[in-house]
Amino acid sequence: MTKLAVFASGTGSNYNAIVEAVKNGTLDAEVSVLVCDKPNAEVVEKAKLNGTPAFVFDPKQYRNKQMFEAKIVEVLQEEKIDLIILAGYMRMIGKTLLRPFEGKIINIHPSLLPSFPGLDAIGQAFDAGVKVSGVTVHYVDAGMDTGKIIAQQAVDVQDGSSRDELQHAIQQVEHQLYPATIQKLITRGE
Ligand code: GAR
Repeated sequence: MTKLAVFASGTGSNYNAIVEAVKNGTLDAEVSVLVCDKPNAEVVEKAKLNGTPAFVFDPKQYRNKQMFEAKIVEVLQEEKIDLIILAGYMRMIGKTLLRPFEGKIINIHPSLLPSFPGLDAIGQAFDAGVKVSGVTVHYVDAGMDTGKIIAQQAVDVQDGSSRDELQHAIQQVEHQLYPATIQKLITRGE
């Protein structure tokens, strides 16, 4: 059974979608741990409700990024994690975490990369007035949203729609695309 570590910083709707896919049998994996960098994040409550062991690592408690990530790696190796799933984890991954999990960390981003990398991709796309945006799942490398693209799905921006409506449409797509893409990687043995 493939063991997943889901990393999240906020609401956790993608974490939930992954847990649901495991429950309904469309994703053949185990969500072994949730890793969160924000002690008060909503996703920690969601993990409790689902019975996922939650590990909260507050970077402020560590002297530097290397020590922060080394602590996370310790837990991941102890739990024998196969794949790291970034789901709204709003922090760059440094080399301490990248090196032992090279090619085993993926991220979901709410735009069609390479357009609109970084923070508030939905706001960036909305302000640019694009007619099509979307969702990208990609491998994580040392850059900001620069890793190899695994899957993308377009989302039309309806005329006259609000930023919130675009966000809603994008998240609906994320909740399908992310579990399905993880399953494809597992099936291909990646
Ligand atoms: C998602 O829309 C995800 O694509 C985005 O954060 C949101 C988290 O929502 N990630 C990024 O912007 C990463 N650069 P969630 O906490 O409800 O899953």
